[in-house]
Amino acid sequence: MSSSQPFLPSSPIGGGGRRKKSRFTYKHLHLLAQSSTTCPLRCIALIDYDAFYAQCEMVRLGVAETQPLAVQQWQGLIAINYPAREFGLSRHVTITEAKQKCPEIVVQHVATWREGDEKWAYREDAAKHIHTDKVSLDPYRLESRKSLALVKEILPPAPVQKVEKASIDEVFLDLSAQIHQILLERHPELQYAPYDDPTENLPLPPSTALNWEADALIDLDSAETEDDDPDWDDVVMNIGSEIVRGVRQIIRERLKYTCSAGIARNKMMAKLGAGYKKPNQQTIVRNRAVQHFLSGFKFTKIRNLGGKLGEQVVDAFNTEEVTDLLKIPVEQLKSKLGDDTGTWLYGIIRGEDNSEVNARTQIKSMLSAKSFRPSINTTEQANRWLRIFVADIFSRLVEEGVLENKRRPKTITLHHRQGGQTRSKQLPIPGGKKIDETILFELAKTLLGQVIVDGRAWPCANLSLAVGGFEEGVLGNKGIDMFLLKGDDAKAALELPSRSNTATPIHADDQPSKRRKLHDGPPGITRFFSKGESTGEGEDSEEDINADDVEHPNLPEDDAVLPNQAPELLQADIATYLCKSCQKPINESDRHEHEDWHFARDLQARDAEAVQGPTNSRPPGPSTAKSKRGGAGTRGRGSKVEKGQSRLAFG
Ligand code: CTP
Ligand code: CA
Ligand code: CA
Repeated sequence: MSSSQPFLPSSPIGGGGRRKKSRFTYKHLHLLAQSSTTCPLRCIALIDYDAFYAQCEMVRLGVAETQPLAVQQWQGLIAINYPAREFGLSRHVTITEAKQKCPEIVVQHVATWREGDEKWAYREDAAKHIHTDKVSLDPYRLESRKSLALVKEILPPAPVQKVEKASIDEVFLDLSAQIHQILLERHPELQYAPYDDPTENLPLPPSTALNWEADALIDLDSAETEDDDPDWDDVVMNIGSEIVRGVRQIIRERLKYTCSAGIARNKMMAKLGAGYKKPNQQTIVRNRAVQHFLSGFKFTKIRNLGGKLGEQVVDAFNTEEVTDLLKIPVEQLKSKLGDDTGTWLYGIIRGEDNSEVNARTQIKSMLSAKSFRPSINTTEQANRWLRIFVADIFSRLVEEGVLENKRRPKTITLHHRQGGQTRSKQLPIPGGKKIDETILFELAKTLLGQVIVDGRAWPCANLSLAVGGFEEGVLGNKGIDMFLLKGDDAKAALELPSRSNTATPIHADDQPSKRRKLHDGPPGITRFFSKGESTGEGEDSEEDINADDVEHPNLPEDDAVLPNQAPELLQADIATYLCKSCQKPINESDRHEHEDWHFARDLQARDAEAVQGPTNSRPPGPSTAKSKRGGAGTRGRGSKVEKGQSRLAFG
């Protein structure tokens, strides 16, 4: 927790003069080797692709790097490349506006699914078919996967390698263990640990200038100067930046993508650093610069503080500035906000974050969805959509290795929305034989049939189909048992009691409002920076969503915990986090699904605009995302040449 984090004062021991020993100990070095989340020498990087979807299209189309390009989805723009941003374009502008401001812009519509197709395709007339087609973000998902695979290939193998896909275009790297190896190679003096006393301080690193190449360095805290000798944490960051520079270069060479990166002592600071300078730049937030860097932000820009919690803090303390909050004693934060939140906030504004970089590669569920404006009214229409959903999901299942029986989903779920009411029906996917499109389509039709039998099927405003409950396939016959239906499963449908017969809003309020935290701060909060409401974060690391517009009930499909039962079943020891967008505690294991839901809902809102014709309103995401990184100048931290011990005396 925050108070136990062993960051030591960095001023020279005894004041003035050169310290004889490092602030760090052999124990710390040992923790570094283990990628321990409490290690004060820890080094985390976040790599975020520049204008990701736009770059995907640039590479696919083979346009020049200087060519302005935007990615279109129906009547909206969802990605703008950097050359186009120079014309003042952002995701908020309409297509007409974009073409006015930048006549040479290439506007590429995303790929779409069309009935009867076996695969998505890029089509000239895509935008005209909003009522009959649905978008596919698969091309970007594939590129995302390719680049993740490349990053994993570049870095040393596990357990040294720790890579976490954070969103479709972001990846966290815990570089600690790798840096530990490099440190020992370059500084053999560190190898001779006095085994009797791990608390002994390390010798100081050589006081030579660290070469930061073209990296952006965040200015140091006011109590620090660039004349101070570097300690091992500076050296660690320096090696980290070298590694990340190398990774970025290889990505550039092999995949042609540019990306930006943040390098810092934890995920929260790395994420913040990555947004500091774009495109194609990396920013280092040294430990000695953390406080300075953070104090330039409004705390409402901090992840989880953008919504109601942030408002509550603003109300309680009458300020939006991190700097003001820093003056408030933890006791006072706790008394106004509660113990958990108060303690969490106290740590967060001091740049403390012990959350782990963890590899999650397995997809948990896949969803394909469409909202209908106007609503649809016949089984025939619905079946046409089901066929598209099935083709979409099946192509992703193939990608996931379902044909080779590597992994296969256990359940298929249909969500049906009419007005404010969503009904869900679920069936097990029979085991024992290969999943194919016909099986899935038949199941989907059965599910729809159940909705219809219940009555109130039409008009239907939204349909979505999902598969989930993935299991590792076992090759050969041995595995078949696992997939065979148990006696009860033979019973026709398993109806989710969820919101079937009630008009409960999508986010059931029947979840416990407060649950025990497990590790990082108040109720499971582990990711910190607001990225705007809809960045597609979390996309497809655990679940795959293809929704140009989707009303996605937040059903925990995998663990068969039904929303109605949530209070009993979820209460105990399940990590939760507080969703910034809706301020609901969400099961940690459903995080990606939940974030995707918001993402999709925002897309839907945007589509609604598109359908209603151009308006001045804009998707909610980018403004937050922009202001997060946009204020470099206003914060008075423009790049300064003399940084990073460049003025150190040699020898
Ligand atoms: N995205 C989207 N709608 C949003 C936010 C993001 O469709 N409101 C998609 C974008 O098309 C984008 C990708 O998700 O390419 C990654 O988002 P993000 O990293 O926030 O933006 P980028 O476009 O990559 O731009 P930047 O260079 O600022 O990271
Ligand atoms: Ca990006
Ligand atoms: Ca991103």
